[in-house]
Amino acid sequence: MAPIPTVPRTIETPRLTLRPMRADDGEALLEVFADPRVMAAFGVPPFDRADMERWIRRNLDHQERYGYGLFTVVLRETGMVIGDCGLERMEIGGESQAELGYDLRSDHWHRGLATEAAAAVRDLAFDALELPRLVGLIRRGNAPSRRVAEKIGMTLDSEPERDGQRYWLYGMRRPAPVPA
Ligand SMILES: CC(C)(COP(=O)(O)OP(=O)(O)OC[C@H]1O[C@@H](n2cnc3c(N)ncnc32)[C@H](O)[C@@H]1OP(=O)(O)O)[C@@H](O)C(=O)NCCC(=O)NCCS
Repeated sequence: MAPIPTVPRTIETPRLTLRPMRADDGEALLEVFADPRVMAAFGVPPFDRADMERWIRRNLDHQERYGYGLFTVVLRETGMVIGDCGLERMEIGGESQAELGYDLRSDHWHRGLATEAAAAVRDLAFDALELPRLVGLIRRGNAPSRRVAEKIGMTLDSEPERDGQRYWLYGMRRPAPVPA
């Protein structure tokens, strides 16, 4: 019988710790989501505290429902919360898909940190959770996010429209297991 996969609660990468999100992460995550440079990626105004709390609550509910969700990303060198990265199930093209997402504090961009976090979540999704496929739904024009998707091995599938907005839908399938 195939071994039952164990799902790690915390992931360590060379520079980062990805730990389960907590209800009291709001203050630290506001440094990400109240920043207009970050929120330009979503075309929505910066979050206030109430928006942040609702967003965290939604993720905690998702975590409970599916057993996975978004991690809080901590830079180990300083202990600072610098963003989130993880998985969210969403309805895309009439199908429920697992989306790999990431958002970082803008003062920590361009250091390869999102790629490092996203690659670790990709490995969790395929190796421990055994999900068959991952997608990245990216607003068209978000070049840094597209680049992260490409660097972790995703390719462009389609350019769907949702609520009047065009997206790049990136995706990748779980690699076939290497025969023993
Ligand atoms: C997307 C995001 C997480 C990337 O974080 P990051 O840590 O800077 O990403 P990385 O350093 O790992 O990689 C970014 C890549 O994009 C490239 N890039 C950055 N700005 C770019 C731009 N304006 N045009 C083209 N490429 C760009 C970088 O050069 C790098 O690629 P490279 O390694 O080949 O040089 C960060 O920009 C962010 O939080 N943006 C706002 C939220 C967001 O867009 N989330 C994703 C929603 S789909």
